[in-house]
Order: sequence, then C-alpha cells, then structure tokens
Amino acid sequence: MDLAKILVMEKKTSIARDIRGNLKRLGHEVTAILQTEDECIREIFKNKPDIILIDIDLNEGKFGLEIAENFKKNFSIPVIYIISEFDMSYLLRLKKVEPYEFVLKPVNEKNLYSSVEISLYRDKMDKKLQESEWIYRTIFENTGNATIFIEEDTTISLANREFEKLSAYNRDDIEGKKSWTEFISRDDLDRMKDYHRLRRIDPSAAPRNYEFQFVDRYGDIKDIFMTADIIPGTKKSVASFMNISEQKRLESEILRISEQERHQIGIDLHDGLGPHLVGIKFLANLLKQKLEQKNMEEAKNADEISGLITDAIDHTRQMVKGLSPVDIDADGISFAIADLTRNVEKVYGIKCSFTQGGTLNIKNKFVAIHLFLITQEAVNNAVKHSNAKNIGAELIENDGAITLTVKDDGTGIENILDRREGMGINIMKYRARIIDASLYIGPNDTGGTRVTCTYRKE
Ligand SMILES: Nc1ncnc2c1ncn2[C@@H]1O[C@H](COP(=O)(O)OP(=O)(O)OP(=O)(O)O)[C@@H](O)[C@H]1O
Ligand SMILES: [Mg+2]
Repeated sequence: MDLAKILVMEKKTSIARDIRGNLKRLGHEVTAILQTEDECIREIFKNKPDIILIDIDLNEGKFGLEIAENFKKNFSIPVIYIISEFDMSYLLRLKKVEPYEFVLKPVNEKNLYSSVEISLYRDKMDKKLQESEWIYRTIFENTGNATIFIEEDTTISLANREFEKLSAYNRDDIEGKKSWTEFISRDDLDRMKDYHRLRRIDPSAAPRNYEFQFVDRYGDIKDIFMTADIIPGTKKSVASFMNISEQKRLESEILRISEQERHQIGIDLHDGLGPHLVGIKFLANLLKQKLEQKNMEEAKNADEISGLITDAIDHTRQMVKGLSPVDIDADGISFAIADLTRNVEKVYGIKCSFTQGGTLNIKNKFVAIHLFLITQEAVNNAVKHSNAKNIGAELIENDGAITLTVKDDGTGIENILDRREGMGINIMKYRARIIDASLYIGPNDTGGTRVTCTYRKE
C-alpha cells in the first residue's frame, strides 16, 4: 500500500476528525483539514498533497464540486468526494466532473480505504499514460519529417510542425478539417486513393514507401518520399513525408552536367583524337610506301601499324557514337534502337528484337533523344539484371501517341518502389518527366519486366 499525503476539505469538525482517525489507522497522513479554497491552494503549494478529500456540499459561495474541478484541472490532483446521501442528482453532478471516487457519510474505514487505494492507483496509471502520450507526442513532433495521422474517411486528425511548414497551413486549419487528398497532385491522386483503400483491406497490399508530388497551400509542387502504415487494430494510418525536391533537383543537375560532359568528351574525341589518329595513319602509310620503295622488310610492320591505327580510328568512332547519342534526329531513333538491339545480340548473345509500328513522325529531336536513352537504359537493365532469354523493344505511333515498350522474359522486377540503390530508373523517370511522357516500370503480363513510356504529341 502506498502511503499518501491527504488534504481534507470538510466543514463539520466531527466528520473531519473521524476521517483523520480512519486515514491515520490506514497509515496515511492528513496534511490539513481546511474549509476555504484559498487556504487549500496555499496548502497544495506548501505540502503537495497526493489526494484531496472534499465535501461536495461545502459551500462558500461555490459548490465543493466546482472547487474540486478547479483543483483537478489546475493541479492534476485526484479528488475523492464526500457525499451525504446517495441519489441520482449526486451521481449526475459527479459524472460532470469525472470523479475519481466518493465516500458516503458517515465515513467508514473500508469505504475510505478502497477509495484512497483506487484513487492512488488510477492517478499512477493516468500519469503513466500521460507520460507515454508526451513521449509519443515528442517523437511525433521531432522526427524531422512532416507527419500526419489519417482517419479512414481521409481526414487528417493530427499534423505536426513539419507538416505545417510543408503545407504552409496552420495546424488548426488542418486537423479535423482537411483531407490528405487536398495535398496531392492530380497525376498521383488516383493511385494514392487506391493505396489508401487497399491498405485498409490488407496493410501489406499497398506499398509502404513511394514517391509522389505534394501541392502546398499556394499550389507549389514538392517532390516527396512518403512512408505510410496502418495503426494496428484501427482503420487509421500514419504517414510521414520527406521533402526530396532538392535532392531531385540535384539529381537532374548531375544528369545534365554528366550528359554535357559525355557530349563534350564525344566532341573532343571526334574533333581532337580522331583527326590526330587519321594524321598518324597517313604518316604510317607514307612510311610503309617509303620502306616498300627501298624493298625493306619493315614495310610489313609499317602496314601492321597502319592497320592498328585504322582499328583505333574505328574504335574512337564507336566511342563518339556511344558518348554523343545526340546525333539521333527524329527519323534516326528507329535506326538507333535497331542498332542497339543488334549490338546486344552480338555482344551478349541474348535474343534482342526491335519492332516499329506505324509511320513514326517525331518532330522534336529532344524527345527522340530522351526516348532513345530510356530504351537504352531499359535494354541495359534487362541485360544486366533479368537473366532473360528474349528482350524486345517496340516503338509505335498511334493516334498522336508514341509508345515505347521494352519487355524481357527474365526474373521480373520486385517492388520497384523500394528500389533506390541504382540511378538508372530514377534517370528514366526524370527523362519521362521532362518530355511530359508517362512511364510504367513493372511486371510484364506474361512474366519478366516491362518498361513502357508513352509520349503524346501536342
Ligand atoms: N529488367 C529488369 N529485370 C529485373 N530487375 C530489374 C530490371 N530492371 C531493373 N531491375 C532492378 O532494379 C534495380 C534498379 O535499376 P536501376 O537501373 O535504377 O539501377 P542499376 O541498373 O542497378 O544501376 P545503374 O542503372 O545506376 O547503373 C536493379 O538493380 C535491378 O535489381
Ligand atoms: Mg540500370
């Protein structure tokens, strides 16, 4: 049994004395017997009682109930009410202030004992609960990510400070008022609503992590990496948002710079090393001729050197082609893809076909380059990761839409949304985004993986 310091508010001295006697026998200490609210407040500050026993009919302009309510609210001290008779009106009044316990006059020891014990126990539990609430509240506020709790009907019931910053709304304007769907870009909304629904049927049916575009109060778009999960045993979920806009911007910038560099290396090889090798070949041929004129055997060596330089020139040309695919023009994309698939067959021995459907008419060279580079990465991924026997690329123009598909019959790609290690897929997404095309990377109907990029001409 915990020993408690108890403050008693009772006007009748005989009852107060009885109570003190009973409590003392139970091992508790009565710190004071008082009548007015002011005295009590002073006593609370001075002796910090664990429990206040208060006569509900204590009347000094205010009812005991009101005083008790004030104590509970301002000092979080459990209150036990002393009531003189047990009727419905008491119960209703007590219910209003969520009573801890009550004892009936004349106060008996057993009743007092159980009320004090229950009050102390409840108070301990309440404090523990409050502490764990504070811990979770602190974690919720300080994860560093914008975090929200979502109800089944999509309403946001709780939002932390970071979410206020991300959305540019005040918490009061969000909690209980806004639906998460108001913060999602049009392109991502249907997919995310599906996840919301699926997650409530089976939490593992929707991905935990994925990227989407967030729209804030002013319509500004932010790239987000999101983690969502259902709260066990409920239909509520918790979602946290990491703003990766800056990371995305840097990724694009790196890509742009690396492409510029590749292009520059291509140009340097083409305009520098290429002519240089041609010059050396010319000199080697001249040497060969001179040695032949002198009937010298070394002419053969000079011929070999010239042959090797020819190989080096071819090699350089190949490198220039690989480094500067920017030479692809609108008509050239089919040739470039056909070339790519032929090379894969030759080098890796995997069956790799290319089909073109409809008359292609891509006027925009920029679009052609990016479509080619998406094809190249998808084919390379199939070669590198899928263990496929067949890879097929297809380019079709139909009704103003150009659809590029690369399929393989390999092992298939697992959860694409969890894959963040390589750069290739991110770069494909980036390329699709900048030409305003849609991109699917996922399972193929007949097994393996399919990458489909659809570009709609204006
Ligand atoms: N066709 C595919 N079949 C099976 N798995 C694939 C396929 N394409 C991609 N993957 C998987 O997806 C991952 C990510 O691909 P991504 O192109 O982003 O990176 P990477 O190819 O590993 O590296 P990088 O492209 O940066 O050189 C791969 O590591 C692989 O596990
Ligand atoms: Mg790759």
